[in-house]
Amino acid sequence: MAYTFDKSRAFFERAQNSIAAGINSGIRKMEAPVPLYFTHGKGSRLWDVDGNEFIDFATGQGALLYGHAPDGMAEAIAVQAKKGTHWAAQSELEIEVAERLQSMIPGAELVRFNNSATEVVMSALRLARCHTGRPLILKFEGHYHGWSDEGLVGFAPPPDKWGTEDEPTHIHPSQGVIPEVPGTFVVARWNDPEHLRQRVDAHRGQIAAIIFEPVLCNTGCMEPVPGLMSTIRELCDRDGILMIADETITGFRFGGGCAQHYLGFTPDLTILGKAVGGGVPFAALAGKKSAFQKIISGEVIHAGTLNANPLCLAAAKWCLDEIIARGDSHPAGLIATGQKLMAGLSELAQKHSIPLRPQGPGLVFHCGMLKPGAAEGPFTSYRDYVHRHDAPRWAHLRRCLLEEGVRAIERGLWFQSLAHTAADIDEALRRAAIAFERHAQEWTAPA
Ligand SMILES: Cc1ncc(COP(=O)(O)O)c(C=O)c1O
Repeated sequence: MAYTFDKSRAFFERAQNSIAAGINSGIRKMEAPVPLYFTHGKGSRLWDVDGNEFIDFATGQGALLYGHAPDGMAEAIAVQAKKGTHWAAQSELEIEVAERLQSMIPGAELVRFNNSATEVVMSALRLARCHTGRPLILKFEGHYHGWSDEGLVGFAPPPDKWGTEDEPTHIHPSQGVIPEVPGTFVVARWNDPEHLRQRVDAHRGQIAAIIFEPVLCNTGCMEPVPGLMSTIRELCDRDGILMIADETITGFRFGGGCAQHYLGFTPDLTILGKAVGGGVPFAALAGKKSAFQKIISGEVIHAGTLNANPLCLAAAKWCLDEIIARGDSHPAGLIATGQKLMAGLSELAQKHSIPLRPQGPGLVFHCGMLKPGAAEGPFTSYRDYVHRHDAPRWAHLRRCLLEEGVRAIERGLWFQSLAHTAADIDEALRRAAIAFERHAQEWTAPA
């Protein structure tokens, strides 16, 4: 029987009186039929206030790589909490976490800590501008780098605002942004190395950094085409530009060496968030010693009362030890469960003639839904995704899945966790079979 959400509805109504718009992050409003209120989670499962049990593939927007409430993590945090929750000062723990990152990530000669990846992106861009003495940042259309004035430039622009193929515009989706900020960005389309080269050449001598998600996960799920990473590296080396890999999603999900090891490149700076803390507010900037010089010298200010908070460090140390202990079995196991799920969803889609096209390396993937008449084939760029992805139809299927106890992310992304077993995938597919049948019966395209 399909789940109902009466208690969540009541909570959401109550929250309107005390919390602006009833939620604490804009994107959470997207959850249909109502933003859900949760009570507890364990492993691959999550329970809401109505008593509904979900197999969770949203996993805290990908932060819960180790699953919900993994054994050992709460104990590690509790041990630290009894010794002190916050010092705004140094501890051996911060060196232990730094040394682990150094030994795991190719591009991590030094690190600095913050509490969100949004902050780390701000630090990295400030550092890059000072390091090079240049004003511009090149980023890719559809890539998300946090919600700050800088992080959101060029994220998901509507088609009537996205500019020409050769010159994508640098618009910002939010009002209230410092007016000069979007003008300090050059936006390029993803997965077109020649176009990228032209964009860099057109602003030669002015670009401080190229920032990117190594596997685009915020608008679809698109791995880089062969030659893209090497082109970015080559252009950065040629022109003295800093290469910044935003590994907020990919970091540790793609293995201990992150996506940079998986894809075979070494960036100058790396943004880490989400899985590095396994669900606590912990994030890090990692990079080459040479790229950190302006922070070392104090010319670039990097600060934060809660930076290197001991509770977060205790959690991060636990997470990194978990990845280290798994060795080469990670990410292979995660890829296997993810690909099993993708294959099962594709089979169900075929059975019910639903144009669903799961795409991605399994450990994270996106469920594209083709618009009527849209061409087949993987999405390769943000524009391609907007042209061919049927967002309203996906939203309907996503709601059917939720009502049958399978929770994916509203924008179509599915995250595996290390707690998801083959049996979880079988159970998720049994539930999905009912959801797909309901969707096939109920879906009618808007007139
Ligand atoms: C690639 C990427 N960068 C940066 C961020 C910002 O992270 P946070 O929400 O922790 O500030 C996100 C968040 O989803 C992200 O996906």
